Amino acid sequence: MSKIGSALVAVLTAIAAVTLTHYMDTQVPEGVPEVWNARILDAALRTNGKLILSLHDLGVPGGITWWTRAMVSTVLKTLITGSPFGKGNDPELKITDTEYAGVPVRVYEPQSLSGEGRRPVMVYYHGGGWSWLDVDVYDASTRELAMKVPMVLVSVGYRQSPEHAHPIPLEDCLRVTEYVIKHADDLQLDPKRVSIAGDSAGGHLTAAVALQLREKIKIQVPIYPCLQLLDLQTPSYIENRNFIPGMLNDVSMLSYWMNYGNISYQWMPDFLANNHTSPELKRSKYASRISPKWYMPEHIRTESLRRMDKRQDFGDSELSQKYESVLLDPLFAPLMADDKEYVGLPLTYVLTAGYDVLRDDGLIYAQRLKKAGVNVHLAHYQEGFHGMIFFFDGPIAFDVGKRAMQDLVSFLQENL
Ligand SMILES: *[C@@H]1O[C@H](CO)[C@@H](O)[C@H](O)[C@H]1NC(C)=O
Ligand SMILES: *[C@@H]1O[C@H](CO)[C@@H](O)[C@H](O)[C@H]1NC(C)=O
Repeated sequence: MSKIGSALVAVLTAIAAVTLTHYMDTQVPEGVPEVWNARILDAALRTNGKLILSLHDLGVPGGITWWTRAMVSTVLKTLITGSPFGKGNDPELKITDTEYAGVPVRVYEPQSLSGEGRRPVMVYYHGGGWSWLDVDVYDASTRELAMKVPMVLVSVGYRQSPEHAHPIPLEDCLRVTEYVIKHADDLQLDPKRVSIAGDSAGGHLTAAVALQLREKIKIQVPIYPCLQLLDLQTPSYIENRNFIPGMLNDVSMLSYWMNYGNISYQWMPDFLANNHTSPELKRSKYASRISPKWYMPEHIRTESLRRMDKRQDFGDSELSQKYESVLLDPLFAPLMADDKEYVGLPLTYVLTAGYDVLRDDGLIYAQRLKKAGVNVHLAHYQEGFHGMIFFFDGPIAFDVGKRAMQDLVSFLQENL
């Protein structure tokens, strides 16, 4: 090669290396030893996020198309299992794709329970901001839960937003869960041992289904749930937006809420600045349901945020009124429910992560349920991050993900 040629290659290589290093320079939660796993995860997902946002700017609402959905699912599935095709057959599980009450579901039945007439069951609502991901991306996690507990697991392929806004995804989850309870005998399930679970948007769906079905459910498991859209300036939103942001940050979480609530993206800056709630709403009983008195200061890392004093004297009243009926609906935002509406909720396992913008949503929920007399088990992982439970195993496993999965399995073994 000529001298100029090799100089050019050297320069290009240097530029690529600098770009890559810069791109991979994500903030990793303190206490997570798998720094490179976190960087790979973040870079892979952030690349998708950028493409999706540019599509949105080009006029595709939310950047959502069949192929962006397929792309995101494939990337995540590959990160979770090491293969874009997932896991294949398993001799220990019978896996069936079918429909319950007209909604697509994937049913996992451990061979170890075959012949038993009254098997415990979990209905699982997957995450992905009510807009993304599918039962296939969750296949590794749902297999693990079904096999280790063991129990039958029904993973719900609910319709997604923005094509299907609130309450349609929730209605699909409700229909499947009611079907499982009603047809327990035919399905060889124990109607007294029905649990529900889900992570992220699925954690929201779990809390909302629990509000509707209550005593028919034995255990609910909201995993790092999103539960309110009134305040996007909680300490966890402020502290955590730059940690593994490709997985979740304030802006992507807001875009999911907007897809689900059919709220125009034009209001993004207002929502992020809490400008979407009027001064009256900021002083209302609804705001008090998520006010700083519910924070758990021991889980907040920034000293000043532990003594947070919320300003109440600003906000766009017109915008506030426009969306009030959605924002204050407990089935859209389960933290907006009155204390009385929590009475009689089932045994609750709330899983929260220290480095997650949604940390405080989950912690407030645990606190408020306890006050309402609900039996609550809080599993908080200080060094945890959003999405960690996917990575209990696989090519980029995290110790904290492994522990979170094991702890949940043990809890279900003892209590379901
Ligand atoms: C969203 O709201 C608009 C009116 O603002 C309505 O025309 C549209 O059908 C709604 N979309 C969904 C999915 O509900
Ligand atoms: C908040 O709303 C007011 C109108 O009430 C507007 O003038 C202001 O620019 C908004 N601020 C942000 C950050 O969106």
